Amino acid sequence: MANQISTIGVLTSGGDAPGMNAAIRAVVRSALIKEKKVKGIMRGYQGMLEEEIVDMDAHSVSDIIQRGGTILGTARCTDFTTPEGQKRGADICKKHGIDGLVVIGGDGSFRGAQKLAHLGINTIGVPGTIDLDIACTEYTIGFDTAVNTAMDAIDKVRDTSTSHERCSIIEVMGRHAGYIALWCGIANGAEDILLPERYDHDEQRLINHIIDSRRKGKKHHIIINAEGIGHSTSMAKRIEAATGMETRATILGHMQRGGSPTCKDRVYASIMGAYAVDLLCEGKSNRVVAYKDGEYVDFEIDEALAMKKDISDYQYNVSKLLSR
Ligand code: ADP
Ligand code: F6P
Repeated sequence: MANQISTIGVLTSGGDAPGMNAAIRAVVRSALIKEKKVKGIMRGYQGMLEEEIVDMDAHSVSDIIQRGGTILGTARCTDFTTPEGQKRGADICKKHGIDGLVVIGGDGSFRGAQKLAHLGINTIGVPGTIDLDIACTEYTIGFDTAVNTAMDAIDKVRDTSTSHERCSIIEVMGRHAGYIALWCGIANGAEDILLPERYDHDEQRLINHIIDSRRKGKKHHIIINAEGIGHSTSMAKRIEAATGMETRATILGHMQRGGSPTCKDRVYASIMGAYAVDLLCEGKSNRVVAYKDGEYVDFEIDEALAMKKDISDYQYNVSKLLSR
C-alpha cells in the first residue's frame, strides 16, 4: 500500500489564512522530493469542479513563504456539498491522475475531504483558519498572524481612546469562536471581553463596570467584542447614552486575515504541509494533521470532526481578574 501515490493535488478552501502559502510550498516541495507529480487546484472545491488544475514544480512556490493569502485562491462552494458534486469532484481528480490530495482549510473543508476519501481519493486535511476553532488541534495556521495584527490595531485604538477618555468597542473576527477575542483581550489588557461562548447579553453589567472603572479613575474602557456577538455600533450608542462616556465602535474586519505570516505560522504551516505528504506516502487517507501536547500528530477525519473544543475557564477568569 505504501508509496502507491503518483500525483498529489493541493487546494486551499474556506476563509484564507496567513501561512497557507507556506503550507502549499511545503506540500509541493516535499512531494517533489519524494518523486511525486504535484497539481495545484485553484479556488478550492469550486476550482476542482471547474477543472482549474495546474501542474506545479519547485519554482511554482518560489517567493511565497512570506506572503499572506493563498496563491491557489480559495472559495466557498455550495455545489460540492451535494453527493453529485462530490462524485464529480472525485471523477475529475481521477481524470487528472490525482490519487492523493491535501486540503488546507477548516472543519467545512475537512467534511469535503472526508467525502472524497470515501470516493477513493486519498485525502489529508491541514488545519488552516485564523479562528483556531478546530477541535483536534491546539494550533491552526493563520491564528498567530491574525491575533498579532489585531493586537497591533487595538493598541492604536487604545492610544486615541485614552487621549479622549473614551470607551472603545473593538470588534474582532470569529463568528462562532472567541479565541481571537480572548487572546487580544488578554494581550491588550482590555477592560471587558465578549465571547460568543460565554456572553450572557447582560449589557447592564457592562454599563455598571464602565461607570465603576470611570469612578476609579480609568481613562479609557476597552471592550473587545467577537464578531459572533456583533452589533458593536448599536452597542456603542446604548453604552454612551447610559454612561455618558463618549463611546466609539471599530470593526477590524478582513484586515485580520491578511498580511505576511509570522514566524510561528510559517513554521507550523511548513511542518504540517510536509507531514501531510508523509501521511499520503505512507498510504494513509481520511486523516487530518494536528498539533497536540507539543507534537505533530494526525487523527481520522471522522474522529477529528466529532471532537469538541471550548474556551478555557481558567484563561477566561484570568482575563477578567487582570482587567480590574
Ligand atoms: P472552513 O473550511 O474554513 O470551515 P467552510 O465551512 O466555508 O470553511 O467550508 C469550505 C468549503 O468546504 C465549503 O464551501 C464547501 O465547498 C466544503 N464543505 C463544507 N461542508 C461540507 C460538507 N458537509 N460536505 C462537503 N463539502 C463541504
Ligand atoms: O476564516 C474565518 C473567518 O474569518 C471568520 O472569523 C469570519 O466569521 C469569516 O471567516 C468571514 O468570512 P467571509 O470571508 O465570508 O466574510
